[in-house]
Amino acid sequence: MELESIKHITVVGLGYVGFVTSLCLASRGYRVTGVDKIAAVVEGANNAKIPFFEPGLDDLLKNALANNLFFATTEYSEAIQTSDLIFITVGTPTDPEGAIDLTYIKQAVQEIGTNLDDRFRIVIVKSTVVPGTTDSVILPILEKQSGLKAGVDFGLCMNPEFLKEGSAVNDFLHPDRTIIGSLDPFSADILEQFFKSFDSPIFKTNLRTAEMIKYANNSFLAMKVSFINEIANICRLIEGIDVKDVAYGIGLDYRINPHFLRAGAGFGGSCFPKDLKELISFAKTRNYSPLMLEATLQLNEFQAQIMIDMAISIIGSLTQKKIAILGLSFKPDTSDMREAASVRIINKLLKLKPRQITAYDPVAIPEARKIFGEKIIYCNSAEECLKNTDICFLVTEWDEFKDFTPSFFKERMKTPIIIDGRKIYDVETFSEETTILQIGYKPLNQRE
Ligand code: UGA
Repeated sequence: MELESIKHITVVGLGYVGFVTSLCLASRGYRVTGVDKIAAVVEGANNAKIPFFEPGLDDLLKNALANNLFFATTEYSEAIQTSDLIFITVGTPTDPEGAIDLTYIKQAVQEIGTNLDDRFRIVIVKSTVVPGTTDSVILPILEKQSGLKAGVDFGLCMNPEFLKEGSAVNDFLHPDRTIIGSLDPFSADILEQFFKSFDSPIFKTNLRTAEMIKYANNSFLAMKVSFINEIANICRLIEGIDVKDVAYGIGLDYRINPHFLRAGAGFGGSCFPKDLKELISFAKTRNYSPLMLEATLQLNEFQAQIMIDMAISIIGSLTQKKIAILGLSFKPDTSDMREAASVRIINKLLKLKPRQITAYDPVAIPEARKIFGEKIIYCNSAEECLKNTDICFLVTEWDEFKDFTPSFFKERMKTPIIIDGRKIYDVETFSEETTILQIGYKPLNQRE
C-alpha cells in the first residue's frame, strides 16, 4: 500500500465523530462510505440530513453528496471490501457503574473482520477506548473473524480524536497535533504520510499510549476547569477578588496558559464526565484509586450546589418561588444537554419544590423536554422566561444573553435577582439595578 493508492475510506459509526471524520475527508477528495446500523441515520445522511447541529457540517454533506464523494449504508460488506482505510468511530458509552461499554465497538469490529480479505488495509480506531482495548479486545476479534494476521495482512492503528463540539470541522481540518498509535511501523508510516497534509505535529507511538493520551488529555482539561472552580469558590469567601483576574494572572505563566480557566457552573458534555468516569473505573480494576480524577468530578457536581447556596443566601428559601433558567445546553452553540450543568441545577431545584421553573435556550428546548417532560415550563424567549420570576439562574453563556442590560431583567422579573453562573455580566454595573451574585466574585460590601 502507498499513500497515492488511498482513495476509498470507510467510516464505521455515523455519530458525531463519524460524520465529522467522513465529511472532512470527503472535502479532501476521498471517496467516503459511512456505515451505521441505524437505517434512519443512513437514509437521512443520503438525503443531506445530519441528526445533530454542528456548524459547517451541513454544507460539507451537501457538497460531498453533489460530488459523489460520500455515501452512507447499513451494509458492511461492500464498504469494507472497497476501502483502503477503515476508521472506527462508534460510541463507547459508560455502563451504570462508570466502566466503558464496548458492546458497539465489538459488534462493529466483528463485522469489519468478517469482511477483510487478503488485500492490505489499515483499520484505525478513533473511538475512545481504555488502554489495552485495541490490542487485547479489537485485535483478537479482527484476527479471528478474518483468519488474517494483524500487522502483516492488515494494519491496526489508534488515532484519538480531539474535536470540540461547535468547532469540530475546524478542529479536524486544522488539528493542533495528530497522534498515531500503531501495532506495525508500516501502517504508522502510511498514516503519517496521510495526515501530513493537515499540517500539524505528528506523534507516533504504540497503541496503548495513544489510547491513554486521549483520556489524559480530557482529564487534564476537566481538572483545569475544576481547579479554577475551586479557586473561584475560595475567591467568594473574601470580598474584592474576581477569579477572572486570578485566572488571567496565572494564565500568563506559560507553564499554565490561559485556556480552560473559565470558572463557572461546571463542565458537561458527552466527553469530560464520561472519560473521567471510565478512567477512574479502569484504574480501580487495577486496584488504584485516582484521587485527583475523583476530586475533579466531585467538584464539578458541587458547582451546582454552590449556585443554589448563593441563591438561598440572598432569597432565603426557594420553595414556592418562581425560578428562571437561562441556558440549558452544556455549552453555547450546541443543542447537546448530556451531563449539562443545567440538568444538575434543575434536578436540585425541583427537590426544593419551587412554584415553577421556566427555562429558555436558543436551541436545546427539544432536548430538555426529553429530560424534564412536564416538570418545567419551556419558553420561546428570554423575555417570556424571566417574566414575573423571583430569581434567575444564568447557566449557559449564549451570546444573546451577553447583551442583556440590568433593566432588561428589572423590567421583567418580580425581583431582579441573578445568579450569574458563567460570569458574563459586569457585577458593578448590574448591582446598580439588580441583585447579582456571581461565581468566583464577591465585590467589596456585597450584601448576602
Ligand atoms: C472536549 C475536548 O475539549 C475535546 O478536545 C475532545 O475531543 C472532546 O471533549 C471529546 O472527547 O470528544 P467538548 O466536550 O466538545 O470537547 O467541549 P469543551 O469545549 O471541551 O467543553 C467541555 C465543558 O467544559 C463545557 O461544559 C464547558 O462549558 C466547560 N468549560 C470549558 C468550562 O467550564 N470552563 C472552561 O474554561 C472551558
